[in-house]
Amino acid sequence: MVTDHTFHHMQSLTRHIDRLNAMLRTNRCGRACRWFDTVDSTNSEALSWARHGAAAGSLVVADFQKQGRGRFKRSWTADPGRNLTFSLVLDADEVRARLELLPIALAVATAETLGEIVAPHQPLIKWPNDVLLAGRKVCGILIESSLPSHSDRRGGYVVAGIGINVNQEKFPAEITEVATSIFQVLGRQTDRVLLLSEILLSIESVLAETATGATQALRDRYEARMAGIGKTVRFSYIDRDRATEGTLLGIDDAGGLRIRTQDGIQTLRAGEVTLREDRRGHSVIARVSDQSRPASSS
Ligand code: BTN
Repeated sequence: MVTDHTFHHMQSLTRHIDRLNAMLRTNRCGRACRWFDTVDSTNSEALSWARHGAAAGSLVVADFQKQGRGRFKRSWTADPGRNLTFSLVLDADEVRARLELLPIALAVATAETLGEIVAPHQPLIKWPNDVLLAGRKVCGILIESSLPSHSDRRGGYVVAGIGINVNQEKFPAEITEVATSIFQVLGRQTDRVLLLSEILLSIESVLAETATGATQALRDRYEARMAGIGKTVRFSYIDRDRATEGTLLGIDDAGGLRIRTQDGIQTLRAGEVTLREDRRGHSVIARVSDQSRPASSS
């Protein structure tokens, strides 16, 4: 039975899609769109749509995720109807060759678009692909793929999931210190659909650049917004206790984190950065744990 309540919900979901279609200036991204009231995870939804033949650029949006996923098996939670949680089906054959640059490209696209909306505030990127506003996380990105084991084989699926805190006013106590929303920074509501259409345009353009190998330009744009760049960082490998200190230089062509240490430049491939301000409140100390490092390596 279609109750009155369900009917209004369905109406508003179609209205979102209609508005998005009217605003979109992309060729592919978001042209096919499924906007749900509730799903487990838009990434799961997009992966299954991809397996059933979704074209590259197909978009899944949800007003609420029951099991939103983050990196490192964390969860992603967001109040219903106030934020953006969406996933894009990517062209696996196109992104395969530069998979490691994907987090970099997507972080640049989202940070730059957010920058236009929150100006004069400047969003920063925390390596590899968190977007920070006023020092707190406003956006997280989770790329998931199922690709054939040989990298030269065609086929497989890649989805990019993006969560942006848009109009959420308050966060649960556990994350209130580390999370923020556009609303908290601007003090007013932002049109979610408009923001989504701008981000999709920006994503389409960085993906095209990444495909043609515009890595230096992309690196420059990334580093221009990189949190902690030029600052002293302390990092430790997952299998070791002792921390190494160095200067955060930026990223390399493959999106790795470059740190100048006493023993030369070290590049971290996977892991996470925790930013802290020191007592004087200006220099940033980061902790990096590199999970890419095999436990046996010296
Ligand atoms: C992170 O910061 O650890 C990544 C968070 C990614 C969250 C988004 S929300 C839309 C998409 N669906 C998911 O289940 N996760 C991503």
